[in-house]
Amino acid sequence: MNIISRLCISGYRSLRDVRLEVGQLTVVTGANGSGKSSLYRALRLLADVAQGRIIQSLALEGGLPSVLWAGPEQFSRAMKAGTQPVQGTVRKNSVSLKLGFSSDDYGFAIDLGLPLPCPPSRFDRDPEIKVESIWTGLLLGRSNTFAQRKGPAVSLRNQEGAWRSIMTDLRAYDSMLTHCSDPRDAAELLLLRENLRSWRFYDHFRTDSEAPARRRQVGTRTPVLASDGADLAAAIATIQEVGAEDELATAVADAFPGGSIDVRQEGGYFEIEMRQHGLLRPLDAAELSDGTLRYLLLIAALLSPRPPPLMILNEPETSLHPDLLPPLARLIAQASRHSQVIVVSHAEALVSALQAAGAKRIVLEKQLGETVVPGEERPVWNWPMR
Ligand SMILES: Nc1ncnc2c1ncn2[C@@H]1O[C@H](COP(=O)(O)OP(=O)(O)OP(=O)(O)O)[C@@H](O)[C@H]1O
Ligand SMILES: [Mg+2]
Repeated sequence: MNIISRLCISGYRSLRDVRLEVGQLTVVTGANGSGKSSLYRALRLLADVAQGRIIQSLALEGGLPSVLWAGPEQFSRAMKAGTQPVQGTVRKNSVSLKLGFSSDDYGFAIDLGLPLPCPPSRFDRDPEIKVESIWTGLLLGRSNTFAQRKGPAVSLRNQEGAWRSIMTDLRAYDSMLTHCSDPRDAAELLLLRENLRSWRFYDHFRTDSEAPARRRQVGTRTPVLASDGADLAAAIATIQEVGAEDELATAVADAFPGGSIDVRQEGGYFEIEMRQHGLLRPLDAAELSDGTLRYLLLIAALLSPRPPPLMILNEPETSLHPDLLPPLARLIAQASRHSQVIVVSHAEALVSALQAAGAKRIVLEKQLGETVVPGEERPVWNWPMR
């Protein structure tokens, strides 16, 4: 599948109606409260659809009432000009949280809403999946949809253009991606689901004294670093054995001049050893500073011998010294040769270094409580109809 080029979110927190055009390497930045973390979470929610846990994830965020855009459905001209206070208007459309993306090959969108009040249920705060749609190409149109879900009914379109119903009783909390991907008649659905499942998210590795990454661990071949970094030593050893041993050594030396990293193995347990300029013995993970450990975790994530189609990093600069940001930008740019990468960042030094390495920079701003993307052309986008 080609890289994702359009990302659209509507009704999620401050992202009332955001459409982004992203590239092979994209960095999203903006002031505090502009919506960066919300964007990161919206991407996670999209990936959660393919894991069959979007409803649970929304519940963990406080349920639909909490994550829905809290402003008015529409701003009047007077509200925008500030001559009239911002106030609720009579709702014309149903409550709806929509997420979607598209590439040159496929597009996918999901629309979630609230259940009808009857029959009453103890779960009537659970959001419902109202509509899902998969189409070919960048833009959803009348003729290029090939899988569609409306309420409990799922239909697929064959090559001749004829629609065929494949399910009529899909539950409101199940996605067609997880429940209708029979490889015999819905191979594209399966492909899309597998693609979404392999998106990889890294967000604030723990580096406190009890952090999983500081413990020694039983090592098995680990081409993908766990999101808590617990298998750091095994991931580093795997890179050394099957992947980019030289790139790893270069990345460590680039960030820590005179430094090198190795993995000691004892009775099946793996432990990191880091040699640093000026020290007589190597340090293990328990002895490394927070910033050093976090940087090693980022190296292990970014040099994965099994690069994902899309990798999303949330504020990777946390607790790193500004001197480490240029080498981090180089490492991220290197990873973007094998994966599409989206970085959400606060640190101007990282943002400008990434931009110098060819990243597309997207700046978010907040206007009247709503995240907007000034200075960018809004890509055309159609949401599937309920
Ligand atoms: N349901 C909601 N409706 C509208 N706005 C919301 C809702 N929930 C949260 N917000 C607001 O959305 C804004 C964006 O939050 P977010 O955490 O994404 O910002 P951020 O850019 O990551 O900021 P920081 O740099 O401080 O981490 C915040 O100002 C928050 O108050
Ligand atoms: Mg944030």
